[in-house]
This record gives sequence, C-alpha cells and structure tokens, in this order.
Amino acid sequence: MSGLNIGVIGAGLMGHGIAYLLAAAGHNVRVYDPSAQWRESLNERLESARALLGGDPALLGRISAHEHMAPAMKDTAFVFEAAPEKLPLKQQLFAELEELTAPTTILASNSSAIPSTRIGEKLKHRERVVGTHFWNPPHLVPLVEVTQNEKTSDDTVARTMALLRGAGRNPVHVKKDIPGFVGNRLQHALKREAIALVAAGVCDADTIDEVVKSGFGARMAVLGPMEQTDLVGVDLTLDIQNVLLADLDRSTEPTQFIKDKVAAGKLGMRTGEGLRKWTPQSADAVRERLRNFLADQAKTKA
Ligand SMILES: NC(=O)c1ccc[n+]([C@@H]2O[C@H](COP(=O)([O-])OP(=O)(O)OC[C@H]3O[C@@H](n4cnc5c(N)ncnc54)[C@H](O)[C@@H]3O)[C@@H](O)[C@H]2O)c1
Repeated sequence: MSGLNIGVIGAGLMGHGIAYLLAAAGHNVRVYDPSAQWRESLNERLESARALLGGDPALLGRISAHEHMAPAMKDTAFVFEAAPEKLPLKQQLFAELEELTAPTTILASNSSAIPSTRIGEKLKHRERVVGTHFWNPPHLVPLVEVTQNEKTSDDTVARTMALLRGAGRNPVHVKKDIPGFVGNRLQHALKREAIALVAAGVCDADTIDEVVKSGFGARMAVLGPMEQTDLVGVDLTLDIQNVLLADLDRSTEPTQFIKDKVAAGKLGMRTGEGLRKWTPQSADAVRERLRNFLADQAKTKA
C-alpha cells in the first residue's frame, strides 16, 4: 500500500514524526496546523529526522504544510490527529473531519489518554474512528497501539494495521478502549513501584535506573514479560507472586512523594532536578544516547 493521500492534524512533536514515517512509506502527507510557527519549522524538523535515519531526500517532497484544514483533508484515505490533548478540541476537529472527508476515510487519534470513544461520540460514522497511539518519537519507536472502541469496525482496524505495517511500524490490536491502553498501563505499574521504593528509602532513584537498565531491561527488547514467564516456567511465577504480590505498592492515587517534588518545582531535566539531579550536559548526554540508540535500532530494522 503506497501513494495514498493521508492527512495529519498538528505539526508538533508527534505530528511531524507521523508525517515523516508515512511519507517514507511512499504516501502523500498533508499536515494541517493553524500555527504559522509550527508550519514554518516543519521542514527543518523533517530534515533532521531524515538526516538521522539516512532517508531519501525525495520523501520530504511528499509532505506539505497547510494553514487551512479543508484543502488538506480533501480526498484522504486516512487522517491521523496529533493536536493538543484536550477533549473539546479533538471532538471539534473530528466533527469537522466528518464533514470534510468521505465516510470511508479512517479517522485516527494519537491521544495518549483520551478514549477514541469520547473523541468520536458525536459522529454519524463512528465505525471509522480508531485510536492509534504512537510512541515518541514516532519515526523511531516502532510500536503503535491500534485501539478498537465499541463502535470501531473490524475493517477499520484491519486497514489501519495494514497501513502501519506497510510503513515499517509494529502495530498491535488493543481490543478495549481503556485508559492508558496497554503500554502506559505497564509503564506506570512499574513507575508506581519504583517511586514507592525510593519514597520508602529502600534505594535511591539512580539505583532504580541501574537495576532496570543492567537487569531485566537489558533483555527486554528481545524478551517480553510473557515470554520470560514461559521461559522460566509459569509455576515459578506463581510461587514468586504468592510471596511478593501482597508486598507491592497498591496506591490508587499519586503518592505524597511525587506531589511534593512537583510542588517544589523539581520537575526533572528541565529544572535541574526531579527524581535525580541533572546538569544541562548530563541531560543532553541522556537525550543523545537515546536518540542514537533508537536511530541505530531503526536503521538495523530498515
Ligand atoms: N509527546 C508525546 O510523547 C506523545 C506520545 C504519544 C501521544 N501523544 C499525543 O499526541 C498528541 C500531540 O502531542 P504532541 O506532543 O505532538 O504535542 P505538540 O504540542 O508538540 O503538538 C501539537 C500541535 O498541534 C497544533 N495545534 C494546536 N491547535 C490546533 C488545532 N486547533 N488544530 C490542529 N492543530 C493544532 C499545535 O500548533 C502543535 O503543532 C496529544 O494528544 C498527545 O497526548 C504525545
């Protein structure tokens, strides 16, 4: 599948990466953004993604930036929405998209947390509304969670998964439209325990990162938790859960520890301290290490 007309709503962090990967797969991508600043910087950001991945310079010619939504969304097969995370805005955009596109155009939202059920609730053709949760940066991280809500048709899911596979992504089918989908639920289950351990003085934040990166994280890119359970035996997992589960943190709201950090302005790299301490140099080193690692993985896969 290539050469389709695809709309992207929002030229920000996620929108530009989604546009890049779809154009790299041979599609014509029209990006709508009302902000002149984001439209004007789009080319430069796309070029830096291309340079990082060593992509064909011609692919940038398949992406155009648009000030107005109607001409950008005309005759599109898919639209990916990556506008700010505000429900009324997304609902308004989807209502406009329903008027501007054919009933067969698939309307996908990249929302991190808002269920696509809510985003599409006022539409007439709700079978074509689907969640596509890309991970940042979308042109480097292969996973896309394709979330089917109660109204999304199987055909919409199948077509979306096929498009994404053709663009070199690893789409997964999430069969219920639940908060956090799958990836963020797993990630935040881990963070809840990590924060509780630091708050209880069991270890410091640096140690948490070392345990994950040097321990089970070192094998996670090739061994998922279900594979790992089967590798060691489900019976061993049962034995461990019998001892451990009752002792794990079960907070149902953010702990005072994390609320105090935010209240004290300890927000992370951008303020010099969060859970760990940062200098501009050490923060940049982490960003560069991550970018290079992901780009190497993406190039190996291509
Ligand atoms: N940043 C992440 O790590 C991440 C990961 C997964 C999903 N998401 C989700 O993706 C979406 C976009 O996030 P982002 O990080 O790219 O934000 P961003 O702020 O970088 O980009 C948002 C873009 O939307 C544009 N915009 C503002 N109003 C608009 C409108 N009325 N119509 C169209 N565009 C408009 C802005 O000008 C901006 O370019 C959000 O729903 C977010 O939750 C973000």
